[in-house]
Amino acid sequence: MFAVTAGRVDAADPLAGLDLGERPDPSPPGGWVTVTVRAAALNHHDVWTLRGVGISPDRLPIILGCDAAGLDPDGNEVIVHAVIGDPDAGGGDETLDPRRSLLSERHDGTFAQRVAVPKRNLVPKPAALTFEEAACLPTAYLTAYRMLFERSGAQPGATILVQGAGGGVATALIVLGHAAGYRVWATSRSEAKRDRAVELGADQAFESGARLPERVDVVMETVGQATWAHSVRSLRPGGRIVICGATSGDAPAAELTRIFFTQLSVAGSTMGTRDQLGRLARFCEQAGVRPVIDRVLPLDQARDGFAAMIDGNLFGKIVLVP
Ligand SMILES: NC(=O)c1ccc[n+]([C@@H]2O[C@H](COP(=O)([O-])OP(=O)(O)OC[C@H]3O[C@@H](n4cnc5c(N)ncnc54)[C@H](OP(=O)(O)O)[C@@H]3O)[C@@H](O)[C@H]2O)c1
Repeated sequence: MFAVTAGRVDAADPLAGLDLGERPDPSPPGGWVTVTVRAAALNHHDVWTLRGVGISPDRLPIILGCDAAGLDPDGNEVIVHAVIGDPDAGGGDETLDPRRSLLSERHDGTFAQRVAVPKRNLVPKPAALTFEEAACLPTAYLTAYRMLFERSGAQPGATILVQGAGGGVATALIVLGHAAGYRVWATSRSEAKRDRAVELGADQAFESGARLPERVDVVMETVGQATWAHSVRSLRPGGRIVICGATSGDAPAAELTRIFFTQLSVAGSTMGTRDQLGRLARFCEQAGVRPVIDRVLPLDQARDGFAAMIDGNLFGKIVLVP
């Protein structure tokens, strides 16, 4: 079958290790099933893998891709949960299983015509969502869902600042947060992306690093080093940063004095559970939320999608269709 594979890693030139071509069909072990992929979505995780972050070279070659929507062996329309883990080993939460992985870390991923996944990882696809829309949910939207509704501790009506408006998680935070009744503020380096953020439901959008009209209850971080100091400065006393990623670097000055003196908290967040993915799908259906898609590309043009993501030249999700 045709697949998009990480053949080797290169920290400086991630596209150098990207291979497009034939790979063996999956052979699912007991308890696993093969899903026919109708759409898959690109995440920064796929770029990190090509850079050698979070993968050991002995796993290569490995098919990339965490997210998919498609058909199960009985022809049911399904969304694939990307977290491979045992809820019992994580106190009821598979993301806290110390041995958990994401698709494409230990097991072949979704950028292929077919993918093998544990049967428990299948979630019904709402009929209201297209395969392309549903494929955006398992990583970026699920991460945003947990950041907003579990890790932020903030109730609807609170003010939430989303840094780096253009990314997949950031656009998810804007549309989900707006639909749930939060006051969403966003920052972006690009005026065009700030305008798009407001169209999506952000109450206001500001240039990256700008002084805000007032301090916020929660900051949502995916950018990391480039925005961290601004995130810390933008919080009201007792506020919280929820962080799930660090695209621009993970070692900024920690701003420890400000964190203890204004009694801030920092909450890490990663992915979500299978049950949260099911609730997210229903939330999209009930609230009329549709994932923001930057572009849909045939799987054999995946290289263009990777290049756009590496350049930060996107707004929303890049979807690949086999
Ligand atoms: N923990 C998890 O479970 C999880 C899940 C999903 C994603 N992540 C991580 O979260 C991060 C975001 O991923 P993503 O796929 O949503 O988006 P992304 O493609 O990494 O883009 C995020 C945004 O960051 C901003 N940005 C990038 N470099 C910047 C810089 N030097 N200065 C200021 N802003 C910068 C850009 O915003 P503007 O151009 O609008 O300024 C960009 O749109 C990634 O690092 C990813 O690995 C983690």
